[in-house]
Amino acid sequence: MAEARITAIGMAVPETKITNRYFEKIVDTTEEWIVSRTGIQERYHARPDEYSSDLAVRAVEDMIRRYGVSVKDVDLVIVSTVTPDQPMPSVACRLQYRLDMGPAGAFDLYAACAGMMYGINLAKGVIAAGSHRKVLVVASETLSKVTDFTDRTSCVLFGDGAGAMLIEAAEKGNVGFGITGSDGSGGADLYISGYADFIDGQPVTHNRKIVQNGRKVFKWAVNTMSEMFEKLLAQNDLKKEELSWFVPHSANLRILEAICAETGFPLDRTLESLVNYGNTSSASIPLAICQALDQSRIKSGDTLLLLGFGGGLTYSGTLIRWM
Ligand code: UT7
Repeated sequence: MAEARITAIGMAVPETKITNRYFEKIVDTTEEWIVSRTGIQERYHARPDEYSSDLAVRAVEDMIRRYGVSVKDVDLVIVSTVTPDQPMPSVACRLQYRLDMGPAGAFDLYAACAGMMYGINLAKGVIAAGSHRKVLVVASETLSKVTDFTDRTSCVLFGDGAGAMLIEAAEKGNVGFGITGSDGSGGADLYISGYADFIDGQPVTHNRKIVQNGRKVFKWAVNTMSEMFEKLLAQNDLKKEELSWFVPHSANLRILEAICAETGFPLDRTLESLVNYGNTSSASIPLAICQALDQSRIKSGDTLLLLGFGGGLTYSGTLIRWM
């Protein structure tokens, strides 16, 4: 049975940087509140004519530049996004065309902020099954297009960005045993409005905007992710002390601190991307890894526990050994 090996990674963000001061002008907030309650200092927003597929293409091009790999013979393209350019065609099909790949399978995956992790676990599965040998997993989000800029509790949080990973069949893999899970009872705590007239009996507007019950999602994230952290370590037969880096979804620095306090894992070995990029949904984990690679923090042979969580509610994670 073939094993799955991550062989390359890349990232992209749009050009326009949005500082916390910008939000002081449009809603009742302060730089101090945003930094102390979330840790976020800045994020990037796409141009009106720039879409998730544009960021996805740039993330794959960055990956090709960094590792000298080719995507011409990729046989499956999985794109995680909650902000596709349009429902059809998929962002994955646009990628297949724009990067001039062969006739790869291509589809978008909707698992919100956990989507990149769902994609990695799925790639490992199809490689083990023998149906595919070279899988491109991309997370690309333009959340600024569905942000409610009149809602101070959510507009300060989100940023746009994309990450790409190449996962190939190999004799010796570097992707461990993963977890994918959900709790649909929390669907009304984090959703994009405007697709249905009613959600849980409540009327919703037709304006596509992210709606979040931040406090509820916060508590759920800390409890469930602390449990999943321990489960992933046990499942992969690894002791906490042997783990080099914890890379949870970057939503809020206080969530990361609370999970570390709960699990006893040191915060200084936890990687984030929220300080400079905001909450980029499923792109946050590859952005955190790329940032740490650029700072020469991750070394070959390091073990990384990746754990995503988000709307659905969904969660998913795995353990990888860095190439
Ligand atoms: O990525 C998908 C998963 N999402 C998450 O993981 C998000 C999880 N939740 C969070 O990160 C946090 O709950 C938020 C950042 C969304 C909110 O932080 P919080 O510390 O939970 O604040 P809160 O909702 O409890 O609100 C505290 C106060 C409220 O005022 P009152 O009622 O105490 O007078 C809010 O109205 O802070 C107020 N507030 C703000 N004040 C200034 C909320 N947003 C702002 C703001 N500026 N931007």
